[in-house]
Amino acid sequence: MVKFGSGIAVKHENFKTCDQAGFCKRNRAYADAAGVTGWEAPFRIAADTLNWQNGQLQGTILKTIKEGETVRLPVTISFLESGSARVVIDEEKRQKGEIELRHNSIARKERYNEAESWAIVGGLDISKTAKENREEKTSTITYGSENQFEAVVTFAPFAIDFKRDGATQIKLNDRGLLNLEHWRPKIEKVEPEKKEGEETPPTEVEVPTGEDESTWWDEPFGGQTDSKPKGPESVSLDITFPGYEHVFGIPEHAGPLSLKETRGGTGNHEDPYRLYNADVFEYIMDSPMTLYGSIPFMQAHKKDSTVGVFWLNAAETWIDIIKAKEAHNPLSLGIGSKTDTKTHWFSESGLIDVFIFLGPTPKDVTKAYGELTGYSQLPPEFSIAYHQCRWNYNTDEDVKDVDRKMSKHQIPYDVIWLDIEYTDDKQYFTWDPLTFPDPIGMLKQLDESERKLVAIIDPHIKNKEGYHVVDELKKKDLAVHNKDGNIYEGWCWPGSSHWIDCFNPAAIKWWIGLFKYDAFKGSMPNLFIWNDMNEPSVFNGPETTMPKDNLHYQNWEHRDVHNLNGMTFHNATYQAMLERKKGEIRRPFVLTRSFYAGSQRLGAMWTGDNQANWEHLAAGFPMIINQGVAGYPFAGADVGGFFGNPEKDLLTRWYQAGAFYPFFRGHAHIDTRRREPYLAGEPYTGIITQALRLRYALLPAWYTAFHEASVNGTPILRPHYFVYPADEAGFAIDDQFFVGSTGLLAKPVVKEGAESVDIYLPDNEVYYDYFDYKTYSGRGSHSVAAPLEKIPLLMQGGHIIPRKDRPRRSSGLMKWDPYTLVVALDKQGNAEGELYVDDGETFDYESGAYIKRAFGFKDNVLESTNRGTKGKMTSSYIKAMKAVGVERIVIVGAPKSWSTKAVVKIGKTEARLEYHPESGGKAAWAVIKSPKISIAEDWKIEF
Ligand code: GLC
Repeated sequence: MVKFGSGIAVKHENFKTCDQAGFCKRNRAYADAAGVTGWEAPFRIAADTLNWQNGQLQGTILKTIKEGETVRLPVTISFLESGSARVVIDEEKRQKGEIELRHNSIARKERYNEAESWAIVGGLDISKTAKENREEKTSTITYGSENQFEAVVTFAPFAIDFKRDGATQIKLNDRGLLNLEHWRPKIEKVEPEKKEGEETPPTEVEVPTGEDESTWWDEPFGGQTDSKPKGPESVSLDITFPGYEHVFGIPEHAGPLSLKETRGGTGNHEDPYRLYNADVFEYIMDSPMTLYGSIPFMQAHKKDSTVGVFWLNAAETWIDIIKAKEAHNPLSLGIGSKTDTKTHWFSESGLIDVFIFLGPTPKDVTKAYGELTGYSQLPPEFSIAYHQCRWNYNTDEDVKDVDRKMSKHQIPYDVIWLDIEYTDDKQYFTWDPLTFPDPIGMLKQLDESERKLVAIIDPHIKNKEGYHVVDELKKKDLAVHNKDGNIYEGWCWPGSSHWIDCFNPAAIKWWIGLFKYDAFKGSMPNLFIWNDMNEPSVFNGPETTMPKDNLHYQNWEHRDVHNLNGMTFHNATYQAMLERKKGEIRRPFVLTRSFYAGSQRLGAMWTGDNQANWEHLAAGFPMIINQGVAGYPFAGADVGGFFGNPEKDLLTRWYQAGAFYPFFRGHAHIDTRRREPYLAGEPYTGIITQALRLRYALLPAWYTAFHEASVNGTPILRPHYFVYPADEAGFAIDDQFFVGSTGLLAKPVVKEGAESVDIYLPDNEVYYDYFDYKTYSGRGSHSVAAPLEKIPLLMQGGHIIPRKDRPRRSSGLMKWDPYTLVVALDKQGNAEGELYVDDGETFDYESGAYIKRAFGFKDNVLESTNRGTKGKMTSSYIKAMKAVGVERIVIVGAPKSWSTKAVVKIGKTEARLEYHPESGGKAAWAVIKSPKISIAEDWKIEF
């Protein structure tokens, strides 16, 4: 497990602690009060309102506010065809608009109910087979494909237990922390008049409700005040996972994969995990502090069972976690104590809208979650290769020079990036006329090696007269408004700025127009886009973002939609990149910093402004792995570290790690020294080049893993619990991982000076060192040598790994290169593998223009079989790919009996076999050169 030290840099005073966020403090106080004996949870279902129809249970929850006085909260519990369940609780008065807003606010009166239209893209079909059984105090619904799931709804107090095969897996409101702060009018306190000479009249001491009302009506922070026109409106719920010791997910935080407890105590956090997308300057390690993006999806895991919840709410959210160990039962000899993980979720506004996934495997949970929020984009292939970025490449000549030098040093890269300085005075869609006089010339040079350019475009639009983009933004009224309904003005890179409101369909339409080649002068097809600062980052705003009482499209308050904001901007850019010229439909590549559930459909994310030190290097993997667990695997961290100058060994180790980031980009702050790989000098440049070449050689395997993620949501970097759900020793491991289904087990070095690493093997299979075939075997920890030039990387026996071994300048130039297949035999002498190939840039794969192969080695026969489904473009694609062959097959762990074998049979022909015996702990291996077989066709090789 990665150990996190404590950092020093972040400006804590810029961001709220739970104590400083009114609703967080109130809900924690509520939880404390509820923990006291005699507590009566005030929410119950009015049984006579219940109605079961077509897979949905609907009714009204009554919240008792005082003796005889209740608030009506409509509830809908839906049972979905997919086996997931959904619980939605709203507030009747607000649905009907029967509330009054203060300060003449023009904000919407309803609780925000459109998060679904951004986050959810499918999987909402209601079950046709779910059945209800109503009794006096409960209603029990049986559902799921084999009726293996059950929801027991208790009416008073309202609670639901979700069961699988009769055993409870998830409990809602088990602790009675369900809370929905209903709308109420503000009773203005009349200050008694003070007569001259009199003492100051006594102020009210007793808060009548017993609740802390101090932040109900307005909330100051950092010199600004949130006007809160709707008063207190938070929602909260406790979710308990009985018998589960580990919970994962709810990114983005810098900390270990297995989430910590948050209510104090040794080694625990003091504050809940926070989700409130923010530009956190110099963020610290091992902290529940919020970062740039949020995905309110959590998986709970125990031996042989995984379940999950998705809290669909876009407002500021906090999650408390405690783990309760059951007292040791002396009769359960040998069985360790049982732990319940108890979570408590609260959001500042919006609905209670929670999805329940009952597993039982991690794959089932990620699949079900992806069915709702969409699977990860199948990215254009170049974008999973290496990206060379810094703030900034200064001129178009500078870009061309770096490009030439990378070629000269034979260092592969696919994309060079431009940060904000390329623009004319931070006006996006323009080029600085002095430093970038010839963007097309630059793009054309890159195109000669099939290389690309990514340019940054942020959501803040410079407020400067005569800048066509801001003029149109204002004229068309497509910007975010302040609380009074006027255009909102704030401060960001360009100085005074306005923010495009991408919740507005008209704004999206306008944005699409700005990217057309004839509108964005100096752009051409090999230009792609980077969206940054989309939390949004506002330098002079509260917590470096927008005031919560700002207004978006249709007058939803920013408070309600904050965590969606980044995704809506990313979405607009994605839409724009789809078709920049009529008929030229290419897969977009758009990098985003801010994200929400669903952003995985739109492109990559990265972990923002990290630092050039070993701690940050180590922090990358748990964060990236966790992104994958939360359905967003196309993730990476700035290689080399953003702030500061990395020592050469750190830079080298970072490239070795980066070669295993799904999104692999070197990036650096404007104040840092140049650090393109060829500048490092030997041996560093050579070692970095090897790491880059390793990534390029394995691109077929990576692309296959991306394909898998795009069809069923499986993470690309797979943590141990995901692959070995029964192996308790692996549950918290977050510094080593499997790459897709390849059987590659990596543990890049993230510790200064380390000469070896301990790799944990989850089973008794044989593992081969990727580079020299040294074998490791036996469940448990193994020391693997890791001098600076070495990446600890093993191949688990039983896998076939596709590669392309010819070094090239870019992935585009490797398109027609032949493959190498590495067959790593298991102890029984078998192996299996997969390969997915398509054109890497269009959507033709949706019409069948792809190759999907299953490779199998069994009984001395290696076979390639088709796994694709035929579409209308299949035949022509396969025909075009026929010429792409397999140039080498390496069989690792080759049996001794082959030592006398000279040839293998391929149909009617033969190919030579070369055998290398086992030596010095290194497995025997055999190689077949030029077998003359195609990657696109079925074939069989007999050994
Ligand atoms: C933000 C980004 C960083 C970028 C900088 C300038 O800090 O996180 O990657 O270089 O802005 O655009």
